[in-house]
Amino acid sequence: MSAFLNGTTSATPGSKPIVKLVDVVKTYVMGHNTGGGGLLRRRSQAAATVTVHALRGVSVDFYPGEYIAIMGASGSGKSTMLNLLGCLDRPTSGEYFLGGRDIAQLDDDELSEIRSRYLGFIFQSYNLIQQYTVLENIQLPLTYQGSGEIAPEAEERSVELAKLVGLADRLDHRPAQLSGGQQQRVAIARSLINDPYVILADEATGNLDTRTSHEIMEMLGNLNDSGKTIIMVTHEEDIAEHAKRIIRMRDGQIVEDGPSKRMQQAATALIGTAHLNGPAPAWETTDPTAAAGAGAGRE
Ligand SMILES: Nc1ncnc2c1ncn2[C@@H]1O[C@H](COP(=O)(O)OP(=O)(O)OP(=O)(O)O)[C@@H](O)[C@H]1O
Ligand SMILES: [Mg+2]
Repeated sequence: MSAFLNGTTSATPGSKPIVKLVDVVKTYVMGHNTGGGGLLRRRSQAAATVTVHALRGVSVDFYPGEYIAIMGASGSGKSTMLNLLGCLDRPTSGEYFLGGRDIAQLDDDELSEIRSRYLGFIFQSYNLIQQYTVLENIQLPLTYQGSGEIAPEAEERSVELAKLVGLADRLDHRPAQLSGGQQQRVAIARSLINDPYVILADEATGNLDTRTSHEIMEMLGNLNDSGKTIIMVTHEEDIAEHAKRIIRMRDGQIVEDGPSKRMQQAATALIGTAHLNGPAPAWETTDPTAAAGAGAGRE
């Protein structure tokens, strides 16, 4: 087992965050070549750069085993945040710790190593290689590591993953021969090939119909149940409700962070049964048999 996660190897909510952002800022400075000279020059120079504040100081912790949905209007910074989490980009300022390691200290090679070994990605547009079969697409992250040869165990694992996502009978199909939902399932299997600690999904169901979307979400839910940490971006409330925690962003900042409705309901249901360990409320003791039963149970 790798020392990468400093002991955070189990995917159960624990005390150490797997991901920690501290006051992360991402600013894009866009240059224009507006041309012009003479009297127009000063004006064109003033307009020569546009600064976009994509993230304005984001601090957040994610724990192993969590299932988080990031929501917010278009342009609010969701993808920017997910790309930083995925080490696909670097913050302008602030700190990012992944499994306790300071990402800012790593060079590009180390970052791509972390990406391929510890993170799984699922994108809206599937990002499959058209010339490759289902199996080859699933194996793709492995070919980015080492010699490029696929070990027999890895070959077996990719077949297992194809089965897991319901594509056992499509191993030799190419993306064009698959439906959108099937292509996204290939992408899910591909994201799992390295047994990542964290799965990052950006609008994973954005191109799918409602039924297929919910099938994909069920699959992600099962992965979370089996211990995977999932961080996903979505526009849709009903998709976000599959998560356990919902973060809402506005103008590059987190404006809300709390349990999803289903987690709130689960918590309420739990509180509702709490009286079983204490005195039953009056409205439940009007039936003498039930009251006697409950009383006996508490003895
Ligand atoms: N590479 C880039 N260069 C310049 N500006 C960028 C770049 N990427 C994103 N932005 C800007 O940063 C802001 C946040 O973009 P981001 O893609 O994170 O939004 P989003 O919340 O994912 O939106 P959407 O829901 O439309 O995908 C936007 O104003 C966007 O124009
Ligand atoms: Mg986006």
